[in-house]
Amino acid sequence: MMLDLNAIRAQFPAFEKRPAIYFDNPAGTQVARQSADRMLGYLLDTNSNKGGAFALSRESDAVLDEARQAAADFLGAGRKEEIVFGPNMTSLTLHLSRSLAHTLNPGDRVLVTRLDHDANISPWTRVAEERGAEVVWVDFDVEDGTLNADSLRAALDRAPKLAAIGYASNALGTINPVKDIIRQARAAGVETIFIDAVQYAPHGPIDVQDLGCDFLACSAYKFFGPHLGLLYGRYDLLDGLTAYKVRPASNKPPYKWETGTGNHEGIAGMLGALEYLGWLGETYGAAQEAQLAERYSGRGLQLRKGLAALRAYEFELSRAMLDMLTSLPKVRLYGLADPRRIEERVPTFSINIEGMRPHDVAVELDRRGIYAWDGNYYALAVTQRLGVEDSGGMVRLGPVHYNTMDEVHKVGEALAEISG
Ligand SMILES: Cc1ncc(COP(=O)(O)O)c(C=O)c1O
Repeated sequence: MMLDLNAIRAQFPAFEKRPAIYFDNPAGTQVARQSADRMLGYLLDTNSNKGGAFALSRESDAVLDEARQAAADFLGAGRKEEIVFGPNMTSLTLHLSRSLAHTLNPGDRVLVTRLDHDANISPWTRVAEERGAEVVWVDFDVEDGTLNADSLRAALDRAPKLAAIGYASNALGTINPVKDIIRQARAAGVETIFIDAVQYAPHGPIDVQDLGCDFLACSAYKFFGPHLGLLYGRYDLLDGLTAYKVRPASNKPPYKWETGTGNHEGIAGMLGALEYLGWLGETYGAAQEAQLAERYSGRGLQLRKGLAALRAYEFELSRAMLDMLTSLPKVRLYGLADPRRIEERVPTFSINIEGMRPHDVAVELDRRGIYAWDGNYYALAVTQRLGVEDSGGMVRLGPVHYNTMDEVHKVGEALAEISG
């Protein structure tokens, strides 16, 4: 069953309150009503600190536990203790990197890619520098925005100890073949593999066990929830590594990694965002059921049905975006433009208009009621490699499943007008 966009958009109060074309989703999606309800419900009904000997604290703990289990189901983790909550992906990654630094010795190598957001580069280059390890870079092809296979091979041949890979690029939309990369990395002897799934999470199902990664991070505000970061870590690693923590805090995962009192209402809101995705699965995911049911059940199945259904619709959005963008003579599209390779990208498109600064294009789009981002969006290595950093970066247009074909056409009309 195709998505009913009216029913879906009705789940997002923002669209009625502030009518606009929301194409700023790679920077953060709008919040589903279920998510906001969960946040408010937490604050008004079960607001308490953890581990108290009284009913309110027990009820609060029950919500937090349910949220952690839901996040484990979402990412395919084996147990809820493998899920760590934090303020955002960047803070969680910086925090973890300080602990992983102790596994690095002078002369070791650390692999990062130029296709990544800086939150999956700087934490690792910083610890490499501190520990006397060498950074090995994997390049991407500027023509199509995909990781360069030869560069990856060459980097793996140098036997890095730690590898940090992005699932999908927040600038060019490329989905990396992470499962295959992880397999190659393991064969090359890489010990620790960290995946940044921030941009992929709102667009498709994730299964950390199937991928075989050690760590994977994402952010709930990119998948229709509140500002909260999630980190999956293999239990033995979370247990064995030394965490930067204060003395009275638990020595066990996940709590040893969660410094201070958590963002309880945010965690409840993340649960609500997953309930929204589960609703999508129940309502629109029948076509994917048979195949997914062989492997998943319960909430894990429901979530994957939801993500598979929205992914199928997003292919259509991507095709329409490609059609539109490649038909405008003064628009230059960066990254994968081949409609036959639609499954290798999320619907995130970066462009420039001949003779215009990206910021001015974003301002013109805003004047027409269209929200779009400009600049480098922290994918600094990408804008530098493409040679657009000094000219203001690129304009990013990122529809998600709640955007309509009509909106794609309207953005096309606006770009035609702006580019003249
Ligand atoms: C690919 C990618 N990684 C990491 C981040 C950083 O996430 P957070 O804002 O949760 O720190 C972003 C944010 O845009 C991103 O797009």
